[in-house]
Amino acid sequence: DDDDDEPEVIENGVAENNTQLPKETKSIEVCNVETENPSNDKGTKVSRTDSPKKSEDKNVIEIKEEKKPLLAHPTQHVEVKRDPKIQIARLKLPILGEEQRVMELINENEFLIVAGETGSGKTTQIPQFLYEAGYASTKMIAVTEPRRVATVAMAARVGYELGLSSKEVSYLMRFEGNVGKETKIKFMTDGVLLKEIQSDFLLSKYSVVIIDEAHERSVYTDILLGLLSRIVPLRRKRGSPLRLIIMSATLRIEDFTENTRLFKTPPPVIKIESRQFPVTVHFNKHTYSDYLKEAYKKAVKIHTRLPEGGILIFVTGQQEVHYLVRKLRTSFPYKKNVDYSKLIQKKRPTLTETEQALDSEPEDIESDDDEVEKEMKRMRKARRKMRQKHKELPKINLDDYDMPEDDGQADLVDDNDDQDSEGHLSDSDAEDDTLTAAIKNCRQPLWVLPLYSMLGSSKQARVFQPAPVGARLCVVSTDVAETSLTIPAIKYVVDTGKKKMRVYDHVTGASAWRVVWTSQASAEQRSGRAGRTAPGHAYRLYSSAVFQHDCVEQYPPDICRRPPDHLTLTMKCMGIDKVVNFPFPTAPDRMQLRLAEQRLEVLGLLERHQSKAKRSDDEDVLKVTALGRAVSAFPLLPRYGKLLALSHQPALLPYSVALVAALSVPEVMSGKPDSWPATGHLLLLGDPGVLLRAVGAAEHAHLKGEEELFCAKYGLREKAVEEIRKLRKQLSSEIKLCVPNAVTSLGDARAVDDSQARLLRQLVLTALGDQVATKIQLHEVKEGEDKRKYKYAYHCANMEEPVHLHSESILRKVIPEWVVYQELYETGSEERRKMVMRHVTAIEPEWLPVYVPKLCNLGDPLSDPEPRYDAASGRVKCHFKGTFGKAGWELPTVEID
Ligand code: CDP
Ligand code: MG
Repeated sequence: DDDDDEPEVIENGVAENNTQLPKETKSIEVCNVETENPSNDKGTKVSRTDSPKKSEDKNVIEIKEEKKPLLAHPTQHVEVKRDPKIQIARLKLPILGEEQRVMELINENEFLIVAGETGSGKTTQIPQFLYEAGYASTKMIAVTEPRRVATVAMAARVGYELGLSSKEVSYLMRFEGNVGKETKIKFMTDGVLLKEIQSDFLLSKYSVVIIDEAHERSVYTDILLGLLSRIVPLRRKRGSPLRLIIMSATLRIEDFTENTRLFKTPPPVIKIESRQFPVTVHFNKHTYSDYLKEAYKKAVKIHTRLPEGGILIFVTGQQEVHYLVRKLRTSFPYKKNVDYSKLIQKKRPTLTETEQALDSEPEDIESDDDEVEKEMKRMRKARRKMRQKHKELPKINLDDYDMPEDDGQADLVDDNDDQDSEGHLSDSDAEDDTLTAAIKNCRQPLWVLPLYSMLGSSKQARVFQPAPVGARLCVVSTDVAETSLTIPAIKYVVDTGKKKMRVYDHVTGASAWRVVWTSQASAEQRSGRAGRTAPGHAYRLYSSAVFQHDCVEQYPPDICRRPPDHLTLTMKCMGIDKVVNFPFPTAPDRMQLRLAEQRLEVLGLLERHQSKAKRSDDEDVLKVTALGRAVSAFPLLPRYGKLLALSHQPALLPYSVALVAALSVPEVMSGKPDSWPATGHLLLLGDPGVLLRAVGAAEHAHLKGEEELFCAKYGLREKAVEEIRKLRKQLSSEIKLCVPNAVTSLGDARAVDDSQARLLRQLVLTALGDQVATKIQLHEVKEGEDKRKYKYAYHCANMEEPVHLHSESILRKVIPEWVVYQELYETGSEERRKMVMRHVTAIEPEWLPVYVPKLCNLGDPLSDPEPRYDAASGRVKCHFKGTFGKAGWELPTVEID
């Protein structure tokens, strides 16, 4: 329905409803405006000439067609008395000069995009503008943030600037918050607002919703934008308009403005121009994988050599933050009882010529490596002098910390440098000496503060305070300081070029945090942080070649990187049934979404409901089942989530967790699986059974501290074993949330008994029920006179050509009639191409009607001539004849109760 067709009447500032509206909309709340709408004074009364019953309805007054329906807005301003100190600080923000324009646009439009550089005052000021304009007088102002850290910090800041208590400007996020009856402005994480939409679709408590940091494109933010694009017109129909303000850094706004599925007419965009001082970007000549060591060295150099100004260091996570904070605090301690104020009077260490020249450089230039080269020469000279003075210099050991997680990418880059890396390493050893001396000679303390998402709110707040007199501010932060929080007085940015990103395994959908190169856009954002108050410098601890070749321009939004199965299930749980039609800001592939729906239906996680609308073109709606809801909690592809959700036999849980974890990590074993004779009842569990034994045994070795030896001896990839352990822990803690007493320590898989092994095979079938294959006879192989041998292969549902057991599959010993597999892949040369099944488990065909009912076609049980009553179990058993799958494979006559 086109909402523009709906007659909209605005009279005396109150939007009322036409009698033509559908019944349900009759119980209309009157719009939250207490006073007259001044725009009404000029505009006459509003309606549409094409309204069918216009003359009969006295509420409807005619207007000319070209006039847009006016939007009611509050006109009673709210008086705010701010501390003069705050007012002075506010006036420095670029957005303050735009208050009138921003408010006009907000008053006149339901949708508005505010784009502005980080630090221009969007988050802290726009909620205040709205509050003063009366938008919080009868309903609340909602602000969503993708990060927890910003939710707390911004609520506190806005409350402070408005002189309101935390009862009035509050925050709410999962497990924490201070929202109450008096709340006027409510900061919340985007997930929280999504939850609220599920219970109150029209968001009737709010007059404005601000989606902040929309450029971050978190999955929840994207879903919220899609939903709000539909909620806003509904609210207008109800005569109680809701405004949506999208706030974003100046990145990729086209996704919102050029997407006609999202907004039929592009919303107006207001760009906040901000003062940005030039920032000189320095690249490293070489890219060392130990970026923490490099970051430390760079910070030391800046502090001991360069003029006053705060340092901001970007690393990837909480642990790295803490490591660097400790290291820098030890090097330049701040002692409470010392008066450092005299230090400022002293002359700063002199700059090199290059540094001075760069410092006064007005424009953004990439000085690349010259500076580093000169710096190195100077240092070597200094070192020689120093050596002559002191025979022995104390050495700092930079290697006494855990290496950052190796993501493979860092290796790639280092490979290029390998040839000369030795020379450089010895150089940096020499540098260490010079640094040690510099540290020793430097008497100015460094005021080092950590910043990351999970940091407590009082500790967070410290980064906004100036450093104590005489000390230099240094903030070590994760990417929260990239756009979410602006730290004042930063002059130097040290950028490791790395960040943690959630990556998904394409087979199991298991996700893990990996350290990756930042995007070029992020690198620019990070550098920009150095030029907020004066010209600054950004030191990128990687080469310009890495920037050009290894850093993507921009990462695709999370919603497109997430496996569509999990996304679909998540959205269905939120009550969004038509995922394919959903107005995503950037839509995932439609075909992939449809296939995901089909897979989820076969797994029994979605079920078909007849569409209410009963229009001929309407398909049935697939809604989430109770099992689907349980499965959505696992950070896995739903098929493996299902495997876990159904493993409710407590003794079995550790094994199914280990199984899913092992199936998620590629190439766990190199070489033959013979070292892991999965015999007896584990044999039929097939390759996953072998994995299970290996993982259990490796865990045992780990506890004894012999993992390395063990892995080498039995051909296990040590990194893989480690990854499996991490994933097991992650999944176990997820399970513990629902089943607190669940056993999670893993024992020897040989302890699994016959019936448990059977259950494990059935669980594997519930997960992989759409990937069944049956044995087929290929051809005869003659062997001697009487002996005949047949060559076998398998037939699977979605492929014409035969598929094969992996050459190292343990099931080659058995060649079972029916199997399920985890994945198909292609091997062999072009002429002798062959499709091979990975991770194969034997199943029994009579399990299919029970565990994969959606794909079974069974005959009528009543046609069974002899249903038998089994007195022991109290059940009636019938024989079925049936087929399986689209190919219609005949099932053996199965007995079902
Ligand atoms: O949202 P946007 O990035 O446009 O800017 P903002 O977060 O509203 O920040 C505006 C200014 O307020 C920045 O200069 C921050 O440093 C400052 N601010 C502060 O001094 N103390 C806080 N607790 C929060 C922000
Ligand atoms: Mg902001």
